[in-house]
Parts: sequence; structure tokens; C-alpha cells
Amino acid sequence: MLKIILSALIAGSLSRAFQFQLPLDILDRFRLTKPEHPPPPPVVISSSRPPRIAIIGAGAGGSSAAFWISKAKERYNLDVTVDVYERSDYIGGRSTTAHPYNDTAYEPVELGASIFVGVNKNLQRAVKEFNFSLYGFDDEDGDLGIWDGEQVLYTAKGSGTLASLLSKLKFLWRYGYRSPTKTQELIRAMLDKYVTLYDPDTPKWASIEALNDALNWTEFITQTGAEYFQSRGISEQYATEIIEAGTRVNYAQNIDRIHALEAMCSLAADGGVSVRGGNWQIFEQFVKRSGAQVFLNTEVIGIKRLSDHAWTVVTEKERRNYEAVVIAAPYHTSHITLPADLSTLIPPQPYVHLHVTLLTTAAATPNPVYFGYKPGSRPPTTVLTTFNGAREGGNASEFLSLTYHGKTKFAKNETHERQETDEWVVKIFSMERISDEWLSSVFQNQVGWVLRKEWNSYPVLPPTTSFPPIKLDSGLFYVNAFEPFISAMETETLASRNVVDLLLREKFNSSICLMEWENKADVSEGFVYGWDC
Ligand SMILES: Cc1cc2nc3c(=O)[nH]c(=O)nc-3n(C[C@H](O)[C@H](O)[C@H](O)COP(=O)(O)OP(=O)(O)OC[C@H]3O[C@@H](n4cnc5c(N)ncnc54)[C@H](O)[C@@H]3O)c2cc1C
Ligand SMILES: *[C@@H]1O[C@H](CO)[C@@H](O)[C@H](O)[C@H]1NC(C)=O
Ligand SMILES: *[C@@H]1O[C@H](CO)[C@@H](O)[C@H](O)[C@H]1NC(C)=O
Ligand SMILES: *[C@@H]1O[C@H](CO)[C@@H](O)[C@H](O)[C@H]1NC(C)=O
Ligand SMILES: *[C@@H]1O[C@H](CO)[C@@H](O)[C@H](O)[C@H]1NC(C)=O
Ligand SMILES: *[C@@H]1O[C@H](CO)[C@@H](O)[C@H](O)[C@H]1NC(C)=O
Ligand SMILES: *[C@@H]1O[C@H](CO)[C@@H](O)[C@H](O)[C@H]1NC(C)=O
Repeated sequence: MLKIILSALIAGSLSRAFQFQLPLDILDRFRLTKPEHPPPPPVVISSSRPPRIAIIGAGAGGSSAAFWISKAKERYNLDVTVDVYERSDYIGGRSTTAHPYNDTAYEPVELGASIFVGVNKNLQRAVKEFNFSLYGFDDEDGDLGIWDGEQVLYTAKGSGTLASLLSKLKFLWRYGYRSPTKTQELIRAMLDKYVTLYDPDTPKWASIEALNDALNWTEFITQTGAEYFQSRGISEQYATEIIEAGTRVNYAQNIDRIHALEAMCSLAADGGVSVRGGNWQIFEQFVKRSGAQVFLNTEVIGIKRLSDHAWTVVTEKERRNYEAVVIAAPYHTSHITLPADLSTLIPPQPYVHLHVTLLTTAAATPNPVYFGYKPGSRPPTTVLTTFNGAREGGNASEFLSLTYHGKTKFAKNETHERQETDEWVVKIFSMERISDEWLSSVFQNQVGWVLRKEWNSYPVLPPTTSFPPIKLDSGLFYVNAFEPFISAMETETLASRNVVDLLLREKFNSSICLMEWENKADVSEGFVYGWDC
């Protein structure tokens, strides 16, 4: 934890230093005084000065899209106004929190996306610039166990996340030395490619297929995790017990179904953190700092072609015209009507229907008897699962993960520092509803409060070679085309950065970053594309 924060701080000061070193004439050369845009059709012209961009959805993707556009406004005097439409009453989308007992006196708990990691440079940078404090997972108390529905196969001491487990597995006879070490190497190699997406010469992509080619990841997306790891000599037992625990807790999918890229992302959990008070605050800041106008509780029901150059966004109450529109929500659940020639471009995309059960309990551990331990013994408090027992004819686990997240805390207020209560916060992910009876039995009649939330959480992610289009038409873009490749908060901010680049280049002869670097070596260590140019 401390290590990550320190390296982020060092990286930050270097990149600031770099900005000051830039000769001014380089900046001037690329500054646009008068952005170019195609002549707008007569209908729009009177109502659309300066030109307008609509963003649909205020989750990680939409909020960061607004933020990236504002960078172009700052840097190149791009003259546009941005409207963000959000059908719910909050910013953050699948990243949102709940207060235990629905009482704001308690610190909120993540109900959707919780963790981002060290290599997630946009979110890490946002945390630093927006001065948020972080909550680390690597050092949570309690044991981690892997449950197959009938027995706990394996436990590790004091492990809050799979990342800390992975680092210990090297020493485990159960899996031998080779598989854990080799898996770590494969993930490291994947991440080395991934981090080029923050470099000055980051790939820019007109399609996800093109990005995949640039990263040379075809062998990851065309095979299941099981196939890929087997081809690399990882033992089947390691893949189905350990790697699958990761794919199940992160994507609710098994190793023999999910593509290998997403399986690897599930394991790339080093330095997992959350923003204290809620990750959604990053997205709120993105929108605030962008200066965009946000319409909450406003569902977009249609996007219509106004002309070759413009679009009409239709809500229940009104219609407004825009030069460009960014769809930053999964299309099929957005219920937006597109012109027929465009809607057929987006292939059907099933999402996992996930049940999240958030609760507080006075039980320090789940019921040992449920997990096959003697009464009075101490079962793990982070329980991940494998489907392997069920594959061999045994009982499947009734949940995907069951994790203790420390004591419930009172929020800090004027008179009191943050104080722990005598209850724990527990989160359960499952494919089915978890009943009250089940909770009473597993937490031994000591359940304080329960909140159930159902999400269309992430795409179903089988191996594939094709993805939805990013650009649907001139001035119409689709951020969530990225999700069947990788689905996470950070990658949505990368997807939106790329979309904003395509959009601003096409419509305004502008972008977030118009500098070209002759020599990559001139760029400082902490450079993050989009933030530092
Ligand atoms: C339980 C759970 C756990 C997760 N865990 C993690 C994790 O630990 N780490 C991680 O990185 N990711 C995690 N994810 C995935 C992550 O949440 C998503 O990949 C990411 O937040 C998606 O962001 P988005 O902006 O693309 O979409 P969303 O967050 O879904 O935002 C889309 C927004 O568009 C709005 N919208 C939809 N249709 C319309 C319309 N017609 N008009 C107006 N507004 C509309 C929606 O209300 C929503 O706010 C998790 C997801 C879930 C559900
Ligand atoms: C686009 O912007 C560049 C500066 O970034 C400028 O040199 C060029 O002339 C512009 N093109 C048009 C068509 O305006
Ligand atoms: C939580 O409390 C708020 C007001 O305090 C109320 O509007 C809301 O419906 C409550 N939510 C739940 C899930 O009980
Ligand atoms: C950042 O946060 C810390 C503690 O929360 C506070 O002391 C400090 O003043 C803040 N700095 C800025 C620049 O907001
Ligand atoms: C499997 O599930 C059944 C039904 O829930 C249960 O009766 C049985 O004891 C379970 N078997 C094992 C080995 O856990
Ligand atoms: C691309 O990946 C393949 C493995 O799928 C590898 O054999 C090849 O060397 C890689 N190419 C480059 C240019 O890295
Ligand atoms: C501050 O928090 C404490 C608990 O930590 C609580 O007892 C107290 O009532 C709170 N005060 C206010 C003003 O909310």
C-alpha cells in the first residue's frame, strides 16, 4: 500500500517537472486558436453555437469522456459545450456505495466496482490530483480460503486479496513451484504491453480489433483461460483452483468459459485499492472539473440523425441537437433507439446478472460448520470459490465469493474521528438470490442489516475475434465497445480517451494531446498520456 502511494507521488512530481521544462514554442505550435468544424446544417446553426457534444451515461466511461474533452478545451482553446445525460439520480453507474443501515452516520461501502490496481494509471492519477485517500486490500486481516462447494481446498494466512495469495503460492507444495511462477511471468508480460497505453506513443485505435493487433493479444482473446494456461504448461489444478477463483470473484465466470485476457486481468491484482468514501467520487470530480452540464434523472430514449453532420438526442421531455454524441453505457440495456442501419451494427451482448448481498454481522467469521469445520474453529473470512468440484460431479458452491471487509465504521464527523463498530461488513457475490434463511444459518443469527442489489455487472466474455464498433457513424461513438475486451473502471477511462481523440480529430481538428514526441526517452517516468500533454 504505502509503496504504491509513494511511487505515485514520486511519479507525480516528476511529471509536473516535465511540464515546466517544455519549451513554450512547442506548446504554441500545437495550440488551436480557432477549431475547425464542418459547416453545420441550417437547423442546428442557430441553436448550436458553440458546437455541442452529448455524452450518454455518467459512469466511469461517460464522466471521463467529459473530463478528456475538457483537457482539449484547456490546452487548445477548443470551443465546445458538453451535456451529460444520466438516467439514474447519481454519478458513477456501476461504481456506487451504500451506507450500512442506510444511515449516513456510517462510512459507505462499495456496492459495485470496488478495486483498482497499481497499473491503473488514470484512476491512480485522479486520486492524487483530486486528493483522495485510499483504502488498501493487501493488508486485510483474516484467512483466505478456496471453497469448492463441499470443502475448503486451501487456506492462506492473513490474505485480503488474491494478489497477496498469489505471491505466497510460490511456496506451496500443492501446486508445485512452476505453475505459480510461470503464471506470474505471463501476467507480467501482458501488463508490460498494457502499460504502453499510457505512453506518449500509445496506440490509438479505430476498432478494438486494431488495438488487439497493436498489443498482439490474439492468443489471449481467442482462447479460454483454461486453454491458454494449459498451452503454457500451467497445471490444470492450478488453473482451475487458483486462477478460476480470480475469474469467479472478478467476472462471475469460470476459467473454461472466459477468454484468457480477462482471466489474466483477474489475477493482475497487485496493489488493489479503493477510494475512501467511494470510488464514484473520482467520476463525480471528472464531471465537475470538466465543466459539463449534467442532467441527472434524464433517460435518453433515442438518437436521431439530423443531417450528415448532426444528431438529435431525444429524452422524454425534449430534444437537443449535437455535433457529436458519445454513448457511454452498454447499448442493449440503455434502451436507446438508434436509426435501424446503426442499431444492427452492435451485436447482441449478454451481461452477467449478478446478485450482490451486502450485510453487517456480529459474527467474526462465517459459520465453521457450513464450511465443514468443527464448531468453534475459525474458517476463512475471505472465501473465494472454484467450480472444479462441481465439474467432477460434486456440489457447486452456492456463491462466487464471500468476503469480510473489516468492521463497520462510523463516518468521521466534526466531533469524532472515524470509529469502528462491533460489527463486520460482509459482501457476497452470487448468481442467485441469497435467502434470509441462508444468511441466518451462515452468520449464526447475527445479521444486523442486509442490502441486496442486482447488477448487469459485466459482459459474458467468451473467446472471440470480433468486437462492437467504436465509431457507429460520423460523430457517433460507442465507449462500451471496449467491455467485451476488458471490463473495468480504468479500461473504460482508456476507452473514452480513445473515443474523445477520434471524435475531436474528426469533428474539430483537435484532440486531448496534439504533441508528438520524437524521442520517447525524453518523457519522465511518471508520464501518463492524456494527463501530461
Ligand atoms: C458488482 C460489480 C463489481 C465490479 N467490480 C469491479 C472492480 O472491482 N474493479 C473494476 O475496475 N471494475 C469492476 N466492475 C466493473 C465496472 O463497474 C465497470 O466496468 C465500469 O464501472 C463500467 O463503467 P461505464 O461507465 O462504462 O458503465 P456504467 O457504470 O454502467 O455507466 C453507464 C451509465 O449510463 C447510464 N445510462 C444507461 N442508459 C442510459 C440512457 N438511456 N440514458 C441516460 N443514461 C443512461 C446508467 O444509468 C449508468 O450510470 C464491477 C462491476 C460490478 C457490477
Ligand atoms: C488542424 O490543426 C493543425 C494544428 O494542430 C493545423 O496545422 C492544420 O492546419 C489544421 N487543419 C485544418 C484543416 O484546419
Ligand atoms: C434510505 O434512506 C433514504 C432517506 O434517508 C430513503 O429515501 C431511501 O429510500 C432509503 N433506502 C433504502 C434502501 O431503504
Ligand atoms: C488533501 O487532503 C489532506 C487530508 O485529507 C488535507 O490535509 C490537504 O489540505 C488536502 N490538500 C489539498 C491540496 O486539497
Ligand atoms: C451436497 O448437497 C446436498 C443438497 O444440498 C447435501 O444434502 C449434501 O450433504 C451435499 N454434499 C456434500 C458432500 O457437501
Ligand atoms: C505476438 O505473439 C505471438 C504469440 O501469440 C508471438 O509468437 C509473436 O512473437 C508476437 N509478435 C510480436 C511482434 O511480439
Ligand atoms: C459523530 O460520530 C459519533 C460516532 O462516531 C456519533 O456518536 C455522533 O453522534 C456524531 N456526531 C454528529 C454531530 O453527527
